[in-house]
Amino acid sequence: MRQELQRPRGTQDILAPISSRMEQLRRIAIDTATRYGYDLLETPIFEQSAVFLRVGESTDIVQHERYTFTDVGGVDLTLRPEGTAAVARAYVENGMANKPQPVRLCYYGPMFRREKPEALRYRQHTQFGAELYGSTQPEADAEVILLACATVEAMGLPAPLVRLNSIGCSVCRPQYRASLLEYYHSHEEELCADCQSRLETNPLRLLDCKVDIDIRDRAPDIKDYWCADCAAHYAELVALLEASGRTVVRDPFLVRGLDYYTRTVFEIAHPSLGNRAALFGGGRYDGLATTLDGPETTPAVGFGMGMERILSVLEDKNLTPERRIYVAHIPGSEADAFVLAEHLRQEGFPIDTDLLRRSLKAQLRDASKRSNIVIIVGGDEWAQFKQVTVKDLAQNEQRTMPVEDLVPYLQQLS
Ligand code: HAM
Repeated sequence: MRQELQRPRGTQDILAPISSRMEQLRRIAIDTATRYGYDLLETPIFEQSAVFLRVGESTDIVQHERYTFTDVGGVDLTLRPEGTAAVARAYVENGMANKPQPVRLCYYGPMFRREKPEALRYRQHTQFGAELYGSTQPEADAEVILLACATVEAMGLPAPLVRLNSIGCSVCRPQYRASLLEYYHSHEEELCADCQSRLETNPLRLLDCKVDIDIRDRAPDIKDYWCADCAAHYAELVALLEASGRTVVRDPFLVRGLDYYTRTVFEIAHPSLGNRAALFGGGRYDGLATTLDGPETTPAVGFGMGMERILSVLEDKNLTPERRIYVAHIPGSEADAFVLAEHLRQEGFPIDTDLLRRSLKAQLRDASKRSNIVIIVGGDEWAQFKQVTVKDLAQNEQRTMPVEDLVPYLQQLS
């Protein structure tokens, strides 16, 4: 195929049976969120670009990974790189601040980031996320973290180890930022190119560097700068998570790549993915909705989870195949077989048929590749007694029965 016709770099076609597995994971995610009281919210996959600029101009996904275009009406639009800003926009625009708080929302869908394609880093990925609005209390942070953990467990992964940190608030973070800058400036010559530019744009992200590890390890720890409120919030959050049976470690270098966070940030990785690729991540972002014309104080906390990454670490990537049924015909009975197939589908059975008017032998060969039960329609039994032959390919058994006995027979098989 010519290159210009191929799918864009960093995207994928998800074929069966993986597509069915993804669909099953989607249902597990939304069911788990529903159990915790979260309502499903669907926002457009594109927004006016200004919505995402609020995520932070020094954030990679805003600065140089945006899929942005101007439509024929001259409106500046961006394919959503993440869900949080879109949900914040919807929260404000739909007056959810006036509803009883907290408001619990979840979402599921594609996100677009023009990242350098590499293993498990796609230009279109699927996120399940949850956002809780209206509470400043550590119980809110704890609830979304517990929901994220319960979701990955319901999908079949072992209990995750939660990496947690607090990046402080507007009271204590400026002091920490100043100390960090002073420290890093004293090592400026030794820094990698990325860190040199982070010194100017987003000093906290210096701690994210995977290259200058020695310098990072000796950097001031934000814990020593937390104000009394931030320290208490963190301690209460850890206590709630531990009392709920979760294992938590503090990661002093966890700062996350988005600019909107305040206080709590968290991530979980999976041993097989290494530290670079998190399964889910999130945190508290008390100021974001306000920048989108929301009320003065709009506390919020949430997470996003990469479904392709979840799938990649699941041992069981395929669904147990459905017990499919093939309705075959003896030449001359195509229409009877077709109508019986439709009747069985309406009764709820998964049915395959031929549609090519092949010989019975060719149909049976086809059936052996996709089904384990074959119903043969036609011949003398059909003409005289309306009887069909049912072959169980797995058991290598065959029986003849009146067509009206088929449904109860197939029901007791499944
Ligand atoms: P994020 O860490 O950028 O956070 O993305 C959340 C999750 O999406 C990641 O942990 C990862 O599993 C998955 N992910 C991100 N980028 C890619 C990619 N290029 N390919 C595959 N998977 C990817 C956010 O997006 C925040 N909105 C999370 C949040 C919600 N914070 C508060 N509320």
